[in-house]
Amino acid sequence: MRFDVFTLLPETLSPYLNASILQKAAARGLIDVHLHNIRDYAHDRHHTTDDAPYGGGGGMVMKPEPLFEALETTLGALPPCPVILLTPQGRVFTQKVAAELVAYEQIALVSGRYEGFDERIRQHLATDELSIGDYVLTGGELPALIVIDALARLIPGVLGDPTGAEDDSHASGLLEYPHYTRPPEFRGWRVPDVLLSGDHAKIERWRREQALWRTLKKRPEMLASRSLTAHEREFLQSIQDQDNQDNDEEE
Ligand code: ADE
Repeated sequence: MRFDVFTLLPETLSPYLNASILQKAAARGLIDVHLHNIRDYAHDRHHTTDDAPYGGGGGMVMKPEPLFEALETTLGALPPCPVILLTPQGRVFTQKVAAELVAYEQIALVSGRYEGFDERIRQHLATDELSIGDYVLTGGELPALIVIDALARLIPGVLGDPTGAEDDSHASGLLEYPHYTRPPEFRGWRVPDVLLSGDHAKIERWRREQALWRTLKKRPEMLASRSLTAHEREFLQSIQDQDNQDNDEEE
């Protein structure tokens, strides 16, 4: 999958892209990330990429001309792929959005700095806007890396384990079950017996129940947007019954 990132700070993305899993993915040709410095497309003496807002007020606004030229020079007048602005105003980036975007062979990501984008960028250049969460960062570079990282690990072959992304928290609509590795006892804390039992059906059932339990306790709203099997419903009911019983005993 090809990613074209348009940014004023390409050097901030390189270290992360050149490490570990993403580096290997690029070396194997599974991802292809092109970083474009928007400033290279600003032709005045100072390579200006921002200007004061019309109507007054604080902060600077990202100028349209360098960004339009950067995109058109790189991708052509009609970009063949989604052009995504990273902005706190975008739709929230979730695992579901990652799964939707990874279907494209190519996406363009536009990382802004300054107070915001000239509105004509939003209206006439972007095809989508993504926010990585309800907080405001100094720029869209970290959000672009987050999008690339989340998409890359969904591409077959990027993770060592071919089922690696399937059990992830959020992939199944549930948080992931607890993991343990050696030693079987550490500072007196033992690995649950079921995981040492070798009984795969039992382990599978325990993991499913743990995932449900965790989701109910930590992110109950995730369960509301997911259909449940009869067994899952029964298990959740038994947890709720137990909680009610515990509360009654406390009172
Ligand atoms: N740029 C600044 N804050 C952002 C956010 N939360 N998501 C995406 N882009 C941003």
